[in-house]
Amino acid sequence: MHAQPPVTHPIEWRDDVLVLLDQRRLPAAVSWVECRDANDVVAAIRDMVVRGAPAIGIAAAYGVALAARRHYERDRGTWRAALEDDIAALRAARPTAVNLMWALDRMREAIPAGGDDPFVVLAARACELHAADLAANQAMGAHGAALIAPGAGVLTHCNAGALATAGYGTALGVIRAGWAAGRIDAVYACETRPWLQGARLTAWELLADGIDVTLIVDGAAAHLMASGRVQWVVTGADRIAANGDTANKIGTYGLACLARAHGLKFMIAAPLSTIDRDTPSGADIPIEHRDAAELTHLAGQPVAAPGVHALNPVFDVTPAHLIDAIATEKGVVERPDRAALARLFEA
Ligand code: MRU
Repeated sequence: MHAQPPVTHPIEWRDDVLVLLDQRRLPAAVSWVECRDANDVVAAIRDMVVRGAPAIGIAAAYGVALAARRHYERDRGTWRAALEDDIAALRAARPTAVNLMWALDRMREAIPAGGDDPFVVLAARACELHAADLAANQAMGAHGAALIAPGAGVLTHCNAGALATAGYGTALGVIRAGWAAGRIDAVYACETRPWLQGARLTAWELLADGIDVTLIVDGAAAHLMASGRVQWVVTGADRIAANGDTANKIGTYGLACLARAHGLKFMIAAPLSTIDRDTPSGADIPIEHRDAAELTHLAGQPVAAPGVHALNPVFDVTPAHLIDAIATEKGVVERPDRAALARLFEA
């Protein structure tokens, strides 16, 4: 058995201010960004201060509370309309991860109809969502790890760890639980071009927990699988459609194809807040495209031939038939399909 590692928390609510670990500066520097209104939160989500589907949902929830405080203090007559404008701006900050929209919907449901101070009510609701995400990660970690036979090598992609959530992580929650239980002997992380979430975030937080992790370039995944060192690919998700098709960081679909071609297992770990029952299939998931400069430049320096066209979709969709299991806080769905996912939402 390995020692149980400590947990990292990237989102803090300190004295009624939202404080976010600035993930753009990791691993070189540990620094924090303060958000005092919804505009600050929109910028933090859009500019990648805060990353990962559950984490951006939690940040947005606090953003609603901050917006309520500002508008209620300014004008008791018009605060509701101003709050709705800020919720719309938060909703538009990034398009793919549905946890953002899910969290905003939960916050809208909590807006008090009567005379209660909306800041007090909404800040309490955001804290509840924050705590519930941490608990969900710990539960899904245990459920997912139980599928992994002892002695496994696991490959993960992007960052689906404590840094992408309230803490502990989705895919890295499975890896943390599997490592603590002695089921996982080796962890490999794809570097994850172009933002290098694997190299900068996943490697940083696993090493901080004393979990041995080996970095590979994204293109080395097939070679690694062919060498027999990997038994499971485990990733997070940004949106799971009703039929089980799953959007996650660009490159995940390729890993799922490779896992199937090599007879290996592919697991998604995600909370129920990532399952979008209103999106019928993967074809309906909006895929974010970001600036081509993320490919053509590295740390501000040009690395591509001047004038080349570059395409930068930052998520892709893995079809459900390539997914062996989805681990959630309510248990594992093997060979996911529409009916099995719907059952997760039954009492
Ligand atoms: O663009 P990012 O860094 O926000 O993308 C993050 C991912 O794609 C994660 O793999 C995903 O959100 C997993 S959820 C913990």
